[in-house]
Amino acid sequence: MKKIIALVLTLVMSLGLLAVSFAEANDQKPVIWFNRQPSNSTTGALDMDALTFNEKTYYVGFDAKQGAELQGQMIVDYLQAGGAAFDRNGDGIIGYVLSIGDIGHNDSIARTRGARKALGTATPDTAQGKTEIATIDDVNPAPIGTNTDGSSSIVKDGAITIDGKEYIVRELASQEMKNSSGATWDAPTAGNAIGIWAADFGDQIDVVVSNNDGMGMAIFNAWSKEAKVPTFGYDANSDAVEAIGDGFGGTISQNADVQAYLTLRTLRNALDGVDIMTGIATPDAAGNCLNDSLYYYDEATRCFYALNGAVTADNYQSFLDATAPNPLFNNQLGEDVAPKAKVWLDIYNSTDNFLNATYKPQLENYDGILNLEVEYIAGDGQTESNITDRLADPSAYAGFAFNMVKTDNANAYLAKLMQ
Ligand code: BGC
Ligand code: CA
Repeated sequence: MKKIIALVLTLVMSLGLLAVSFAEANDQKPVIWFNRQPSNSTTGALDMDALTFNEKTYYVGFDAKQGAELQGQMIVDYLQAGGAAFDRNGDGIIGYVLSIGDIGHNDSIARTRGARKALGTATPDTAQGKTEIATIDDVNPAPIGTNTDGSSSIVKDGAITIDGKEYIVRELASQEMKNSSGATWDAPTAGNAIGIWAADFGDQIDVVVSNNDGMGMAIFNAWSKEAKVPTFGYDANSDAVEAIGDGFGGTISQNADVQAYLTLRTLRNALDGVDIMTGIATPDAAGNCLNDSLYYYDEATRCFYALNGAVTADNYQSFLDATAPNPLFNNQLGEDVAPKAKVWLDIYNSTDNFLNATYKPQLENYDGILNLEVEYIAGDGQTESNITDRLADPSAYAGFAFNMVKTDNANAYLAKLMQ
């Protein structure tokens, strides 16, 4: 009899526990930030409250500085390999225009800084109290408007030696590509901007630098392909990689496969209550694992960062399909270790090239193998509430992955979980 009572008691207790875990408070569920790092859009300072919202909160992105330095170096290497051909009007100046994505987005800021530092056009970011440039963090990332005469105080003329001859390097123009409704990284805006720049001073433009491929390809298709002006982007979207065969200068892969996997993987691990490095630093039951050359984890800030690689005429053939799953981590997890779970994930802008053409297909590669039923929400790229309004019932989901419109707005999402 005692035994039976004990058994019944254990049963009741475990049922009770189950009930508790099902009714888990929304603010205790896993929260993964991705692509837009919770941070102050003016200073770049990380929003640690958002990053440590609960024990199951992480950020997944990529190493913006390493990638920005790579992009800058890729452009310099290209110029140095190509001889004097780039001074199209023979005035001794290599002129470039720069397409800026979002002046309040860490990735965009880093890329502007990286290009300027590598090309020698950087000035110290006095607004952040910088007086000299030791690293790319010290560079003023502000847009300049136009600077065809070299008089800007935000950038300066740089110098580059090509085939023994010294050229001036000048940022002729730069602009944040934001449309009238407020969408940033806006490719159509970049396509229009190059039309205006080319009409005003087209023969002075020898190189186009873009903070991403979406804007870079808009410029390439509108002008630089025909004008045969090398154009450099970032993201290694399939269309940009393919365009390298047609004269697109190059791009940077931010390893979207790694990021997409990490976004869902951290969600999975947090849900299962297993070590967060499962299937990341150590193989999971199905053999999925990353290798160290692909990412690193900063425990203090709970941020995972994928590493970047340059994609140029030398290697682009092996990057043509940006949506292919990575065989290192594409093995089906058993439902015994990772039971099916429903999660909510938004992509802030339904027209962002990188997120929709590359990142989302990569998420879709891995959602099934991780037994996650993902509800994908597409935002309008302009207003946070357009997205958060669609999270009417957080209790219907076991976890959340958030991609914000603006990096300062983490609270708009977290408020939904605290209601
Ligand atoms: C990508 C951009 C994209 C942006 C969106 C960046 O990491 O490189 O292409 O537009 O994220 O937040
Ligand atoms: Ca020139």
